[in-house]
Amino acid sequence: MANAYPAQAFCSRKHRMKNEDSAGQLTASTIDMTVDAVRVHESDKRIQPISFRELVPEIKDTGYLTHSIFYYPAKFIPHVVRYALKSFTKEGDWVVDPFAGSGTVGVEAYICGRNAFLLDLNPLLNYMMPLKVYTDTERLRETHLSQMLEGLEKSTNPFTPAWSNIAYWYPPEMLEVLSRYWGFIKSSEDNPYTAIIQSSLLKAGKHFSYAEHRTPKLFRSKSKLKYVEELLQTDWRGKLSEMIRGHSLETLRRLNDFATLTSQHNSCIEFEGGVDSSYYSFQREFDALITSPPYLQAQEYMRTVKMELFWLGYNDEEIRKLSRLEIPYRKADRIIETPTLDKIRVALTRDDLVKLLDSYFCHTINALENGMSQLKEAGTACIFIGNPLIDGIKVEIWRILMEYFMDNGYGFENLYEDRIKHRQLFGTRKNKNPDGMKSEFLLILRKER
Ligand SMILES: C[S@@+](CC[C@H](N)C(=O)[O-])C[C@H]1O[C@@H](n2cnc3c(N)ncnc32)[C@H](O)[C@@H]1O
Repeated sequence: MANAYPAQAFCSRKHRMKNEDSAGQLTASTIDMTVDAVRVHESDKRIQPISFRELVPEIKDTGYLTHSIFYYPAKFIPHVVRYALKSFTKEGDWVVDPFAGSGTVGVEAYICGRNAFLLDLNPLLNYMMPLKVYTDTERLRETHLSQMLEGLEKSTNPFTPAWSNIAYWYPPEMLEVLSRYWGFIKSSEDNPYTAIIQSSLLKAGKHFSYAEHRTPKLFRSKSKLKYVEELLQTDWRGKLSEMIRGHSLETLRRLNDFATLTSQHNSCIEFEGGVDSSYYSFQREFDALITSPPYLQAQEYMRTVKMELFWLGYNDEEIRKLSRLEIPYRKADRIIETPTLDKIRVALTRDDLVKLLDSYFCHTINALENGMSQLKEAGTACIFIGNPLIDGIKVEIWRILMEYFMDNGYGFENLYEDRIKHRQLFGTRKNKNPDGMKSEFLLILRKER
């Protein structure tokens, strides 16, 4: 297939690693093992340095159009997805993302005229996608949104989440107002305006609470308690209304811009949040898989979005059930063995970390393999991963996945390394990453049988 990005970083086929190369030989020659460290020689020839941001200059802003409506931890930068779509799929193809998160693959697929099927354990996907891929041809009207917002202010019908310790998270007066606002949403017709206001309430509901709103993790901090105490001395009701209104209008404009840009597009974006991708039964085949699995020591996504899920109507038991399926916080049901993973397992001295590692690779591979089993012959899997440290040992996730899948019917296509320069965020605080560089890898595999 013609490559849409023939720039410098895309190597010609003859320079790519051939499938006949032996994974074992490569692994042995590139890893130097000591009892508590795995060092990887930089001379690994398969790694193609790349800058996705430079390679996809038409995307000027990572949050363009609807990408930034929702905050989501560890989102894809859209450049990576655009690059994979343009390089490994053509118009009308079907793409699957088993770890869809906030649906970046869905947005990019629609813009590029591809169809996408998105899955995630997090049910928020079901609330985000109808806004992020807004396909109505009729423009949304600000006047209508304003009328709805007036109705929201007048609402007298409260909705209280089934959250046993909700009083821990809200001062009573803020809880009273938010409950009335949510009562309005619950009793309104399901339409794009309600969905827009709901997305604003999700944002404002965290800001106007004791939960720290500047980090994804759900926790109460002393500084946030102080912030809320001070806020209560001001016109906080006016500020809350202003936040909801501002966010709603901004979202409406983004939806209209998205609809204008894609008015001639008619791709299909299907999604299902709240499901475990490892055991999902697919009904179709795909031309490509494009995904970014959870991090090894990942955010606990379910814990992170608990507050939002309660407001949306989930209860304790439903959230607990989902949390038990989250990677890597669940028990492994098989042990993955590859040369690199086996060496790391031996080097680890802590049992809890071995368990974490086993759980991570078991369930990440189960979900990837489940999605990849639906790939057509010669279909491509594009997997975006980092190289985390576990107890000081570098875990080359791409290498472990490559070893596993090359033994199971897939050929190696390419491996890109994107080095991202980070600004030091915390003035005097020790930077864990002293060279200021962080790499992420895009591993490309091709289905052979
Ligand atoms: C790195 S995030 C993906 C972010 C996504 N690429 C984006 O741009 O928003 C990994 C995702 O894996 C999901 N996840 C964790 N365990 C899962 C499971 N068992 N089945 C499906 N998804 C799971 C998490 O909810 C999270 O959204």
